[in-house]
Amino acid sequence: MTGAPGLARPAGSLAEAMRWEERVQHGAHPVVLPFLRRVAARGPVVRVPGIGVVVSDAALAREVLLDAATFTKTGPGSPADLWTPVLGPAVLLNMEGADHARLRGRLAGLFTPRAVAELTGPVLAAEGAALTRALVARETVDLVAMAGRVAGSVICRMTGLPATDDGVRAAFRDAQEIVGMVRLHRRRLTGAQVRRARAVLGRLTAHAAIAYREGDEATVPGRMRGLGLSEREALGAVGAFVLTGTETLVSFVPRLAALLADTGWDVRLAASDDPLLAGRVVGEALRITAPTPAMLRSVEAPGRIGDVAVRPGDRVVVATLLCCRAAGPFDPDTPPPAAVRQLWFGAGPHFCLGMPLATVQITAVLDALVAAVRERGPLRVVDREVARRVLIPAYASLRVACA
Ligand code: HEM
Repeated sequence: MTGAPGLARPAGSLAEAMRWEERVQHGAHPVVLPFLRRVAARGPVVRVPGIGVVVSDAALAREVLLDAATFTKTGPGSPADLWTPVLGPAVLLNMEGADHARLRGRLAGLFTPRAVAELTGPVLAAEGAALTRALVARETVDLVAMAGRVAGSVICRMTGLPATDDGVRAAFRDAQEIVGMVRLHRRRLTGAQVRRARAVLGRLTAHAAIAYREGDEATVPGRMRGLGLSEREALGAVGAFVLTGTETLVSFVPRLAALLADTGWDVRLAASDDPLLAGRVVGEALRITAPTPAMLRSVEAPGRIGDVAVRPGDRVVVATLLCCRAAGPFDPDTPPPAAVRQLWFGAGPHFCLGMPLATVQITAVLDALVAAVRERGPLRVVDREVARRVLIPAYASLRVACA
């Protein structure tokens, strides 16, 4: 680390940062989280009637995620129960085997560095510059609103919706509404929810269908056609991207900023000339926040998880958050144990397809924050509000300013 003038400030409080993270988690899941913690205290794998087999150990979680012959995303109690009625039968997150691998292979072309840069470049350049400018001008910025704008703009670019201010807001609201229907304890959406989710998703994908039919490779649906996807697959994939890639980032980006401000790591980053440090900080913040707090599987064949025997039809709840958190509090100086590494993005055949897109968006906001800290001084949380009873723990608002 090199010293940078004007950046000296006492190290922030790690305990305070972890307390805020706890409030965010608790705000979202005031009942389920304490319950899961009590379950995890009984052992790394515990069968809980009515819930499933709860796994809270990173190495065992990884074994489950890697063994797609025994643990699938298609059987009873799996994500397929939730999403197939809304998205259709073939959208990655409810597929397994050769069909899944083939569709993933085709979609990979959308997540190359070049494709991701084309998709997000203009949005991120404009939002990043505006963020730095505002903080340097001593303005207060709500990072939740900012992350929502970025997510809405990326959805617009993905679906071909016009990215006007209203269009961006509406796209984000729609995505939020669908994700908001899901609860950790609920296995299926109700009939009314499915109808509503389909209608909302239909609004989002109506433009995507036009773009697909026109086959314009400058649009994501047009590119999907070029990559050999049927119209149904393409629209399903757009829906899956909107559902998986919106709330996760709107949850994570403000929490990353809060962790930096609360611990003083914003100043360390701003004063560092280590090109790898930012990546370590982001990885560690993802471990602490685990924006996808749980992953579900259905047991397809008799097997074991650790000491617990499982049988076909069992539901497995991989408690990602607890697996990741067991490695201790936020500490970018210490690499996490191998079993935990990147578990926040999953493992095995369903590993997060959008990781490159997520990384680019996170890095752009982080760079913009650090640039402001370098120029104007430490990041400060002016005020914040925790989101209550949401699926993905988040701040409802996080207003920050520089020194
Ligand atoms: C910080 C942000 C993100 C986190 C923490 C995250 C986390 C995850 C996790 C844990 C899984 C695996 C779920 C499982 O195995 O059950 C997953 C899958 C997936 N993610 Fe992400 N994700 C993020 C952002 C994104 C973005 C921006 C996209 C945009 C396209 C995306 C698209 C997907 C897709 C399509 C899958 C399903 C892959 C498959 O089933 O083959 N994710 N994500």
